[in-house]
Amino acid sequence: MQEGSAQSVPVCSYTEWDPLEEVVVGIIDDASFPPWHIALPPVLPTDQLDTFRARAGRPFPRELVAAAAAELDEFARILAGEGVRVRRPEPIPQRVTYATHTWSSTGMYAAMPRDTLLVIGSEIIECPMAWRSRYYECLAYRPLLKEYFRAGARWSAGPKPELLDAQYDRNWAEATAADTSPRLVITEFEPTFDGADFLRCGRDIIAQRSNVTNAFGIEWLRRHLGDEFRIHVLEFDDPHPMHIDATLMPLAPGKLLINPTRVRETPRLFKDWDIAVAPEPVVPEAHPFYLSSRWLNMNLLMLDENRVVVERRDEPMIRTVTDFGLTPILCDFRHFNSFGGSFHCATLDVRRRGRLDSYF
Ligand code: GLY
Repeated sequence: MQEGSAQSVPVCSYTEWDPLEEVVVGIIDDASFPPWHIALPPVLPTDQLDTFRARAGRPFPRELVAAAAAELDEFARILAGEGVRVRRPEPIPQRVTYATHTWSSTGMYAAMPRDTLLVIGSEIIECPMAWRSRYYECLAYRPLLKEYFRAGARWSAGPKPELLDAQYDRNWAEATAADTSPRLVITEFEPTFDGADFLRCGRDIIAQRSNVTNAFGIEWLRRHLGDEFRIHVLEFDDPHPMHIDATLMPLAPGKLLINPTRVRETPRLFKDWDIAVAPEPVVPEAHPFYLSSRWLNMNLLMLDENRVVVERRDEPMIRTVTDFGLTPILCDFRHFNSFGGSFHCATLDVRRRGRLDSYF
């Protein structure tokens, strides 16, 4: 069997588009507003700041959680119907206070495995996350991680962060016209990153610095992965960066979806790729987006180079992917979107059938 072929190991995924065999789909159980912290304002929608302050540590609205849970279950059924093995994390309590020697917090959810874990080839990495409210989120995935390890996966973790006050810029302020790069709330005190700030294109991994992923974290990952991979750090016109997958989505070799408000010029790396421009999001203004922008319409999951999961009512995006030569598979997901992610964020592609290759 060839090295890195999907059949030889339980964990193996090099791209965003190789044929999907096994996926973790998040859960929304016990989803709760995180305690108020200075890491939040740089990424929360401004219309949500008062809500987060007022409801810190309390559950998200029950009806919305129930509707999102039903959508997640339907998404899992659709994936299974497409021949993908679906795994789910174990619920962990989110409103129990935990503490280190300098700070305490409660949790948020285990809805977005894309943030918490990163699969590169046959290795599954626990991400050193920058939010105190997400410090123990990976525990929800530990039963799966142990199972994958016992079956032969490589299992590792970034350096456990301390998340001291020194990791956050307490003087953070919105960027001004004079700034050439977005101002980030995290410092370079220690390495932190979320998996959703990385996109895998075989040997080439696309990354961004963000309000949760610092240069220290990217450098840790670069050295950890070694010479087999090349990490390209790109910068976008995004004043509030947190997670690259509502900005840029490689859908298949040679096919890139871009957010027109953030990608002013196609990154040089993708100069030979076909580009599709994401259409304006169509979710009604009254629909709450607690944790993200509305550009989650482009947070898509590829099942292979052809099939893509798209929100059922997102007709402009359905047309865009169809015109791009892809086959949309429709799933309701608007209620889940309220919690800060869509199909890409809600999943971790544990195994895709494919080999390490170059696409540039
Ligand atoms: N976190 C991605 C976005 O808000 O668009």
